[in-house]
Amino acid sequence: MLEIKDLTVKVEDKTVLNKFNLTIEDGQTHVIMGPNGVGKSTLTKVIMADPNYEILSGDILYNGKSILPLATDERARLGIFLAMQNPLEIDGVTNSDFLRTALSSKYQKNVNLYSFIKMLDKAKSDLKMPDEMVHRSVNKGFSGGEKKKNEILQMKMLEPTFIMLDEIDSGVDVDALKIVGDNINTYKSEHPNSSYLIITHYTHLLKYVKPDKVHVVKEGKIVKSGDYELALEIENNGFNFEKIVIGAFDGSDASE
Ligand SMILES: Nc1ncnc2c1ncn2[C@@H]1O[C@H](COP(=O)(O)OP(=O)(O)OP(=O)(O)O)[C@@H](O)[C@H]1O
Ligand SMILES: [Mg+2]
Repeated sequence: MLEIKDLTVKVEDKTVLNKFNLTIEDGQTHVIMGPNGVGKSTLTKVIMADPNYEILSGDILYNGKSILPLATDERARLGIFLAMQNPLEIDGVTNSDFLRTALSSKYQKNVNLYSFIKMLDKAKSDLKMPDEMVHRSVNKGFSGGEKKKNEILQMKMLEPTFIMLDEIDSGVDVDALKIVGDNINTYKSEHPNSSYLIITHYTHLLKYVKPDKVHVVKEGKIVKSGDYELALEIENNGFNFEKIVIGAFDGSDASE
């Protein structure tokens, strides 16, 4: 579904990603871990066409076609979704209006109000979000954990197929983490072809959402790949690479 080939990205004169390679197949869940500032969020923003990041070389293919010529909204319409590490606040636009507009844009026609409200009510109750939250400005004054749940609300409503969750577990309390994990799992089972790129520093979320592959990013590329065990090893030992044998890794056959 998503293929990142030799991607080199610069931001403010600094090369953040350096010949980065990763392939995520339909239905797979990949996890990226790595120290602060190595370019994990940068990767997600580049996939979403954030203009602050300059692609020096390489390509990003989605279902076999380069998405580099496409703008953010066109990529979103293809089904690419990012739950941001720091979700944006949009003052003056209610959550409900935002979602309805986004859905109309996705389907290129006005969505039926009755079915929209029904869907929103269900998503909101699945996430145990209070009613008033959908009538407030998007993320304005939301607590850290509420913002993260709101990202999952957007995912459930917009029904994307390639989903990036950037630290969706940070700032989320234990009960909310279970709700978020359960909702991701339900979404996965209802959308069996959907694929995931989950960025996290911990294994908490991975106890609910089982990864197919776990990758470690350092110095602009994947330096180690494995399965859930690798995430546990990192949680116990940190990024102590003396204990982990590093090989230049292209991310495409991580289980090898
Ligand atoms: N818009 C920007 N302007 C200047 N520097 C940037 C910008 N975006 C990212 N960077 C820099 O690029 C590097 C990678 O940032 P990024 O946010 O991708 O890190 P990360 O791996 O997600 O870290 P964390 O685990 O802390 O979230 C950092 O040194 C960061 O300061
Ligand atoms: Mg980040």
